[in-house]
Amino acid sequence: MAAPLPAHDFADRIIDGQGFALRLRERIGRAVAASKAEHGLTPGLAVVIVGEDPASQIYVRNKGEQTREAGMRSDTHRLPQSTSQAELLALIGGLNRDPDLHGILVQLPLPSQIDAGAVLAAIDPDKDVDGFHVVNVGRLATGLPGMVPCTPLGCLMLLKDRLGDLSGLNAVVVGRSNIVGKPMAQLLLAENCTVTVAHSRTRDLPAVCRQADILVAAVGRAEMIRGDWIKPGATVIDVGINRVPARDPAKAAEGKTRVVGDVAFDEAVQVAGAITPVPRGVGPMTIACLLANTYAAARRSAGLDPALPE
Ligand SMILES: NC(=O)c1ccc[n+]([C@@H]2O[C@H](COP(=O)([O-])OP(=O)(O)OC[C@H]3O[C@@H](n4cnc5c(N)ncnc54)[C@H](OP(=O)(O)O)[C@@H]3O)[C@@H](O)[C@H]2O)c1
Repeated sequence: MAAPLPAHDFADRIIDGQGFALRLRERIGRAVAASKAEHGLTPGLAVVIVGEDPASQIYVRNKGEQTREAGMRSDTHRLPQSTSQAELLALIGGLNRDPDLHGILVQLPLPSQIDAGAVLAAIDPDKDVDGFHVVNVGRLATGLPGMVPCTPLGCLMLLKDRLGDLSGLNAVVVGRSNIVGKPMAQLLLAENCTVTVAHSRTRDLPAVCRQADILVAAVGRAEMIRGDWIKPGATVIDVGINRVPARDPAKAAEGKTRVVGDVAFDEAVQVAGAITPVPRGVGPMTIACLLANTYAAARRSAGLDPALPE
């Protein structure tokens, strides 16, 4: 095992997603205040949750709080587990028609009686702040302006903040989900990276990862990516959120857990040039980007510049 890094080297390598997200939310708050003062425009976000999934309840509460803190209107629709697809579609139809709501987010997962694909397809693409509608997927793939999924958008912001121009860099994205891996790959391609998308059938994944100047892990397997899979100096973005037993065996025996990423952080930080920790890395960027998307949607709906002022 390598000697521990000097404290200043360690700190320099950490990409502080939590701090970046806080500053981004403050910037959005200032932009919202200016939109209200200059144009009477208050961005509005509707979040729909069906059922009682405890993790989803926490996400939805955090989204509501942070939306209000940014000065936006926040509506939360809590529907019972037994809600039918027709009832949910009727609610979405009403939200699509409400001119004071600029963003609609349906919290996933949905109960089994509801077809999530049909629900996402029913959201007005211009209000689809999650960026999951096929129209927005197509816009991203063809370079048209549209809604970009929040988590990969947050990853890209962290990468550009750390590296500046990404042109010509080798990027490896591990994971090909519609919500993280695929849109991440599209965003990196648009930044002129040479992009490889790896997945569960990829042969010799460690060797593929070792090619990466930028390595994005979005797998959902605790600490799968080891330190010796990482090219020295590479920038590592760890999207994974995995619960494992607490380090302290006594606490683990009580059922206590901790959250780790898809990257073995203690090994990777010895090799990488920069790395996002888990927690406090990518996670906080997701809601900040949701607010950024809502702001942009509101501005577009009013024919105003959607770009966030500095
Ligand atoms: N920070 C955030 O806000 C945020 C947001 C979303 C997700 N996440 C986290 O990010 C992780 C990924 O989420 P997701 O929704 O993209 O997951 P997902 O839909 O389950 O996709 C996982 C991807 O990883 C690939 N994979 C699985 N095992 C693999 C292996 N052994 N080797 C290589 N690739 C493998 C799968 O390949 P196949 O396609 O071949 O099956 C799949 O493409 C999860 O931990 C999730 O909790 C975090």
